[in-house]
Amino acid sequence: MGIVYLNGEYLPVADAKISVDDRGFLFSDGIYEVTPSYRGRLFGWERHLQRLLKGLCELRIDQDVAGLEEIHRRLLTENDLTDAETALVYLQITRGAAPRTHAFPREPVPPTVYAFAKAWRRPSPERWERGFEAVSVPDRRWARADIKTVSLLPNVLAQQASVDAGVDDALLVRDGMAVEGAHQNFFAVFGDTLVTHPASNVILHGITRGYVLEIARELGIPVEERAIVVESLAHATEAFFTGTTTEVRPTTRIDGEPLGSGEVGPVTRRLAEAFRARIEAAVTDAGVAAD
Ligand SMILES: Cc1ncc(COP(=O)(O)O)c(C=O)c1O
Repeated sequence: MGIVYLNGEYLPVADAKISVDDRGFLFSDGIYEVTPSYRGRLFGWERHLQRLLKGLCELRIDQDVAGLEEIHRRLLTENDLTDAETALVYLQITRGAAPRTHAFPREPVPPTVYAFAKAWRRPSPERWERGFEAVSVPDRRWARADIKTVSLLPNVLAQQASVDAGVDDALLVRDGMAVEGAHQNFFAVFGDTLVTHPASNVILHGITRGYVLEIARELGIPVEERAIVVESLAHATEAFFTGTTTEVRPTTRIDGEPLGSGEVGPVTRRLAEAFRARIEAAVTDAGVAAD
């Protein structure tokens, strides 16, 4: 049985209990973060921590983050994940438990801090080579999609729409623009240029997105951060999603139509390989969880 962290304790998941007054339960009043681990080493920890701090600040949740990295490491150890090729640590911080009122509790309450670790698996190389199919879905989220809140109902419904359509991914469309996926960022290639939505309030500023943009610039691939008109995808030669457990994931069909040649393209392949190399360099670097 998995060992989780809850408010200062490590305990079996079945023993981890929160109050029905928790504002995460009542209002989705909280944020979360997902940090990957490769063979027991956290990858990109500083970036994930910075995004978490931004979210805490936006929601005005007062939580000390000094001990969080240690909690992540200990969860990997407690759950025998230090040798796992790919694992993750999920962390959630809510405003805490208090009698239900919309405004913040008048007397501050301690935030609820919950974390668990688990393994995840990459698709097989053969599966990856076949590419993945997406369905476009209206983006029903609020105007602060840049805050990683646990309020994910529109994302849940969008992802379910992809399941119902018998495909792999959901592409969120807002005002005619392909903004991102239900839990991943979106890129397309037009000519020789890599395009992705700007890091505005309507998308989550993915850590993987940031790495991929850096890598593309290092490789001399022209990059544009601009909105993508969904109809223009008919002229894209390649597309892919990025995310912590997605890494770089080729999209070869959207709404039943082949994208470009309908096969995984060279830019996607180059970026996927370079991103893997970046991870390897960081996690094999003298035991330091560099990024
Ligand atoms: C809506 C959304 N976009 C993008 C991402 C990818 O972000 P990251 O690369 O930091 O995992 C996520 C991750 O959960 C997400 O929920």
